[in-house]
Amino acid sequence: MCGIVGYLGQRNAYPVLIKGLKRLEYRGYDSAGVALITQDGDLQVYKTKGKVSDLEAYADEKDTSGCIGIAHTRWATHGEPNSTNAHPHYSASGNLALIHNGIIENYASLKHQLTEAGVEFKSTTDTEVLVQLIEYIQTSQHLDLLTAVRIALQRVIGAYAIAILDRSNPNQIIAARKSSPLVVGIGDGEFFLGSDASPIIEYTDKVIYLNDGEIAVIRTGHDVEIVDLNNTHLEHEVKTVDLKLGQIEKGGFPHFMLKEIFDQPDCLRDCMRGRINTEANNVVLSAIIDYKERLLNARRIIIVACGTSWHASLIGKQLIENICRIPVEVEYASEFRYSNPVIDSHDVVIAISQSGETADTLAAIHLAKERGAFIYGICNAVGSSIARATDTGSYIHVGPEIGVASTKAFTGQVTVLTMLALALAKAKGSINQADYEQIVGELNSIPDKMQLLLKENDRIRDISRIFTYAHNFLYLGRGYNYPVALEGALKLKEISYIHAEGYPAAEMKHGPIALIDEEMPVVVIATHNALYDKLMSNIQEIKARKGRVIAIVSQGDTRVKALADEFIELPTTLECLEPLLATIPLQMLAYHIAICKGKNVDQPRNLAKSVTVE
Ligand code: AGP
Ligand code: GLU
Repeated sequence: MCGIVGYLGQRNAYPVLIKGLKRLEYRGYDSAGVALITQDGDLQVYKTKGKVSDLEAYADEKDTSGCIGIAHTRWATHGEPNSTNAHPHYSASGNLALIHNGIIENYASLKHQLTEAGVEFKSTTDTEVLVQLIEYIQTSQHLDLLTAVRIALQRVIGAYAIAILDRSNPNQIIAARKSSPLVVGIGDGEFFLGSDASPIIEYTDKVIYLNDGEIAVIRTGHDVEIVDLNNTHLEHEVKTVDLKLGQIEKGGFPHFMLKEIFDQPDCLRDCMRGRINTEANNVVLSAIIDYKERLLNARRIIIVACGTSWHASLIGKQLIENICRIPVEVEYASEFRYSNPVIDSHDVVIAISQSGETADTLAAIHLAKERGAFIYGICNAVGSSIARATDTGSYIHVGPEIGVASTKAFTGQVTVLTMLALALAKAKGSINQADYEQIVGELNSIPDKMQLLLKENDRIRDISRIFTYAHNFLYLGRGYNYPVALEGALKLKEISYIHAEGYPAAEMKHGPIALIDEEMPVVVIATHNALYDKLMSNIQEIKARKGRVIAIVSQGDTRVKALADEFIELPTTLECLEPLLATIPLQMLAYHIAICKGKNVDQPRNLAKSVTVE
């Protein structure tokens, strides 16, 4: 997964490109590069392993003139991260430069054919095969660049978002996409390219979201021309982006992750805006209205997702089964897509994805669609590939999530799943009006309760400092809070690099209790619900083995607080809504432990914000 930026217009391209890469760096970053056609007409490529700041240092003192360029941050899939494998890649003649997001799955056979034809390669990437193939077609068949690109892409199997510069045409950028996102920004006499709108919005809010199989020809003095691989000219809709730059910036917080943790009350208000009628305590989800019958008549619902979105799915399962009485299965998208699932038109698949670009989730959708299932999407990125691959859906509207560790998207997903379950239960008549109105009213109060909980930040920071010694953590929860335990563990491991496991609390005695000693902190979500006494027993078992307990308790609790080494109190709420609150202290605990350990919480090692490759 990577970041793509492009510029063509009257400004000096280089600063626009670098600033754009920095806005996209979270998408994937093991190397970075730019290609420019300078004012002398040279096609210059500067690229290096490392961060965008390393690229700036490398390009310093070099010719960065010119009004046209493309730029890339790479998350390697084929070829180790180094300056040779970094993008852009030159064609053999040096007349073309190309950047790419995705995977050319049949690159090896294409590379073999080109090598046989005498083409020499500099890198071990799949991407270089594409630029060499384009030029080979262009020169061997004496074709213009667009035609060569079309023919080359017809031969490519895989996923791509690409941009190409041609030294012989300094007023044109050709871009194309299939499965990897690409956005064209339309300015006043200038054009922009971005993997999403964030590098574009400070210049223009007019964008075109390219669709799969589309090629955009961007030329100064012309409207954007869009064709398919058969050169059929396609109409396109110029949309207005409602992202504000402030949403992108850190807003005064030291890290995007902490900003996004604190943004959650407002984000959930945005998520519920227009969907909860506070007077009538009623949920209105347009997708449920439009497709009520299809959803209510589902033989079962299958939720497919990855990572944090998969944890949200587990909460969705309990919500839907408990109040809609519709069977729900939760599948890792990566497993579902290869499992030859028994699925047909009687089934509904819910695909959950913050980025809307996760390759495994997208593939799961395509498989389910082929087999006739109805697809409901729950995404954050408007206009994303997954959003556009579904039959309908609900955006979570929590704004761009920049921190690699998902926080506000998780609570946004759980909020939409709660509203979906309520709307379906109301339509089905599986919930009485009093319970319905109570849950809707309580859901509406969650942002305020979250606001109270965020005031615990300093205390949680102090608690975090006690546990930075740990090399392993255990997270325990039951019922609705079991997925929260899984999510809390994921947060800790992905940003602090401490090993952490989430477990159903009752499973302790089936193995994990062997791990318990004074070196193993255990986080237990022990709020006042039906299983409270069971959780008390779990805590006593841990303490008997010198384990150290951080307990998440309900406001006013005394019994667990008397046993635990540390505790964090949650405002009381309904059991089915507790995950929305219980997850907050676990996000802050992970954040502060990682900061104490000096980790890069916004860009953890080896991770990318959106995994658009397998
Ligand atoms: C969550 O903190 C991780 N960054 C990761 O597990 C993420 O949830 C997963 O890659 C799924 O991403 P998506 O929601 O964009 O599909
Ligand atoms: N597959 C290409 C490479 O490994 C592109 C990876 C990316 O999307 O950054 O260079």
